[in-house]
Amino acid sequence: MLVTVLALSPAPDACTAAVRSSINWGTATSAYQVEGGWNADGKSPSIWDTLAQSPGKIADNTTGDVACDMYNRWAEDIALMKQLGVKNYRLSVAWTRIIPAGVAGSAVNMAGVDWYRNLIKALLAAGIRPAVTMYHWDLPQVLQDNYGGFLSPNIQEDFLYYADTLFKHLGDIVDQWMTFNEVISICELGYQVDVFAPQANKGLGAKYTCGHNVLLAHAKTMQLYRTKYAAQKGRVSIALDGKWGYPKDPNNPADVAAAENFMVFQYAWMADPLYFGDYPAVMKETQGALLPKFTAEESKLLRATTIDFFSVNFYCGYYVWAPAPGSPKELTYDVGANTGGQFISPGIPSNAPWLFKTPDGLRLTLQWLAKRYNGPEFWITENGVSGPDEDWKPLPAVLDDTYRQDYYKTYLDNLCLAKSVDGVNVGNYYAWSWMDNFEWRDGFKKRFGIIYIDLKNNLARHPKGTAKWLSQHFFNINPVAPATLRAASVARQTPATAAVPKPAAAPSASVISSKGKGFSLPFSLALNKGSGLGLSVKFGPQGK
Ligand code: NOJ
Repeated sequence: MLVTVLALSPAPDACTAAVRSSINWGTATSAYQVEGGWNADGKSPSIWDTLAQSPGKIADNTTGDVACDMYNRWAEDIALMKQLGVKNYRLSVAWTRIIPAGVAGSAVNMAGVDWYRNLIKALLAAGIRPAVTMYHWDLPQVLQDNYGGFLSPNIQEDFLYYADTLFKHLGDIVDQWMTFNEVISICELGYQVDVFAPQANKGLGAKYTCGHNVLLAHAKTMQLYRTKYAAQKGRVSIALDGKWGYPKDPNNPADVAAAENFMVFQYAWMADPLYFGDYPAVMKETQGALLPKFTAEESKLLRATTIDFFSVNFYCGYYVWAPAPGSPKELTYDVGANTGGQFISPGIPSNAPWLFKTPDGLRLTLQWLAKRYNGPEFWITENGVSGPDEDWKPLPAVLDDTYRQDYYKTYLDNLCLAKSVDGVNVGNYYAWSWMDNFEWRDGFKKRFGIIYIDLKNNLARHPKGTAKWLSQHFFNINPVAPATLRAASVARQTPATAAVPKPAAAPSASVISSKGKGFSLPFSLALNKGSGLGLSVKFGPQGK
């Protein structure tokens, strides 16, 4: 044991004991990626069940049918978290377990509710505080079939009903929520192109329509929580994704402007409406009819329901440069166009074609966001890397993940600098991921876990070096979850009701056209061309 501890490298320089103890450290997963139990206890299929079960769609032909089997092995996982000193865990709920028929007013599946209640109670009893994402990409297939999922405003009411159900049945033991995970991934990769489920491939207008519906569903959820569930006294946000844009030539004002737009088209696309009630001016000027408009009432709702903390999933940055003169306006300001539709980065490559080691990108992103949104509290709700060769290296050599340790060491150094030098208000940090899991179109070929999952040996769990390093310097310094919350969990009885009433009607959404088709070449279109199925070494199936 002593040898192991001595072998671990020290904490990053900027992460002094004082800085480390000012941040809540944790780790994260999502339902479809770890749970398995794809049709257990009344769960209905999600769009990812459908995609992954279609032959040839996943790089290694795995599915999420079993994944890490957390559905059955959660007690073991929580025991291991406790052993490593983890005090904060971000997980997501599968909509299809809670409301199998998807639509507002339909039956609540209490077996699904109870599974999450048991899991969360066990987390709390182990001193681990949950942060729960409502939607991490696993849309009920029935809602995609009924009305095209996020391309229809119907999704707003159905999501609100689902959110209401979660607040009602889990709100006494969960006080930290995120409505959606990664809107760019949901809307660009799932609806603009056909990289992720539901593989809609309907162009740039579909991305914006999807984002619009996500924003309104989110705002209505915030409103619901602050009225009907105010007594729960929790906090709600939405997890946003983006890459840092490094101007290819920092001395060229056109490249600098392109890099600025790169950030605006990712983060501000979502966060400007959340803070200011409308899309960024540059997007409205350049995207024309492709970008939906908010009614005055919707804009007011957005402004009145500002998020309680700013949740960022951060992985890396890319070079960005000015598009060729004469490019169409939409193309000019499209995210992919501003990087030439390619992943070119100043950072060290990882084994995922979209992911590079660019540690200062985290600090720069936080500075940029803190300035634009006037210094809110930030949570890094995902950060991590897939390790080279981890899909084939044998045990125990595979556990020696020095590449990943170096990634965390340098990124956390920058996070601590953001907090201690730049004065960025960093609240929580979650390493992605707690364990190797179903990495979407890459299956188990890309492993992001700090715990290794042995696919050949009954999914046995083995902590990698990074888990021990994080445990020693970060996880173990946090206090346990608040006692009051734990006490509440023990006192609470499982509700006996089988359905919740329909939530009160929120301001109605404008009807959005999903017909407008973009003609730009986003990252993901390029990605899609070499979609991680061995067609290209340059692009992977993920555009995130
Ligand atoms: C972001 C997503 O939220 C998560 O599901 C995924 O596994 C990681 N990025 C790594 O690609």
